[in-house]
Amino acid sequence: MSETKMMDGKVAVVTGAGRGIGREIAILMARHGARVVVNDLGASVSGEGEDAGPAEEVRDIIRGFGGEAVIDGHSVAEPQGGEAIVKTALDAFGQLDAVVNNAGILRDRIFHRMSVLDWEQVVGVHLMGSFYVSKAAALHYRDRGAGTFVHFTSTTGLIGNVGQANYGAAKLGIVGLSKAIALDMQRFGVRSNCISPFAWSRMIGSIPTDTPDQKARVEKLQRMTPDKIAPMAVYLSSDAAADVNGQIFGVRNNEIFLFSQPRPVRSVHRGEGWTPETIAEHGMPALKGSFVPLQVSADVFSWDPV
Ligand SMILES: NC(=O)c1ccc[n+]([C@@H]2O[C@H](COP(=O)([O-])OP(=O)(O)OC[C@H]3O[C@@H](n4cnc5c(N)ncnc54)[C@H](O)[C@@H]3O)[C@@H](O)[C@H]2O)c1
Repeated sequence: MSETKMMDGKVAVVTGAGRGIGREIAILMARHGARVVVNDLGASVSGEGEDAGPAEEVRDIIRGFGGEAVIDGHSVAEPQGGEAIVKTALDAFGQLDAVVNNAGILRDRIFHRMSVLDWEQVVGVHLMGSFYVSKAAALHYRDRGAGTFVHFTSTTGLIGNVGQANYGAAKLGIVGLSKAIALDMQRFGVRSNCISPFAWSRMIGSIPTDTPDQKARVEKLQRMTPDKIAPMAVYLSSDAAADVNGQIFGVRNNEIFLFSQPRPVRSVHRGEGWTPETIAEHGMPALKGSFVPLQVSADVFSWDPV
């Protein structure tokens, strides 16, 4: 059991809490005294089907150590779903203090083969879902003059990865959403931050293990267990993080990162203005030295998880 209960008296909604990272967040929230809404549709990795089993299991684990939890099976990807999830918290516990937008699916496809459906469904669960749940909580937060959001982004959006245009766009969209909420709602004492996690879950569990090299790589990845992400989500939802707003953190096994956010890195100026020719001759050569290389996440996180 935790020594200090950082979420005592608080109510938390954790979406996608039946499995993976969400499950560990829900459990740690409850260990820290939060009453928890365990939301999960029980979908497959690609978002198909429904199964209440995983959420029920998490609820039972929490109740097993004397915590309080209820399950909610609504999809975050519908406006009514977001409202219903918040209503579940208010009906069961009379208040809401913390939202963790964690639910997610993947439909990886190289861009020229990505269907409209692949795009819509991934954006629907991640970006639209984070909006629907946040929007439903926002009026309640305003009236109470308090509340927190933790949203899940990814280095696929922050840095890049191949075959994930839908996911990367949604995950970078979530960063914009989080920033906008932080700016709009700080006047009501509401905070909004992002976590970019690295964790072994079924979402990345499809990596092949045919060769000894691949096997060794996967064994290292398996050390990054989802429970390592949960402390940051609990901390950011607690009063201890009262002065942390609009930030993006990375968590990978025992490492914690603070991510940069875009700012101008260099400027060029011509008193008479620019033509396409002068941009080619003068402007771009001057900026080129500061270009961001076209990299994928693994190029930047090039060392093994510590
Ligand atoms: N695992 C990683 O390394 C990693 C890396 C970057 C970002 N993330 C992000 O972290 C979050 C958690 O990922 P995970 O690895 O634990 O995945 P996971 O597949 O283990 O868990 C996701 C959960 O979300 C649920 N879900 C899916 N669609 C839903 C919907 N419409 N409504 C409610 N619940 C729904 C699923 O049923 C599942 O239980 C996701 O947002 C993911 O994009 C994970």
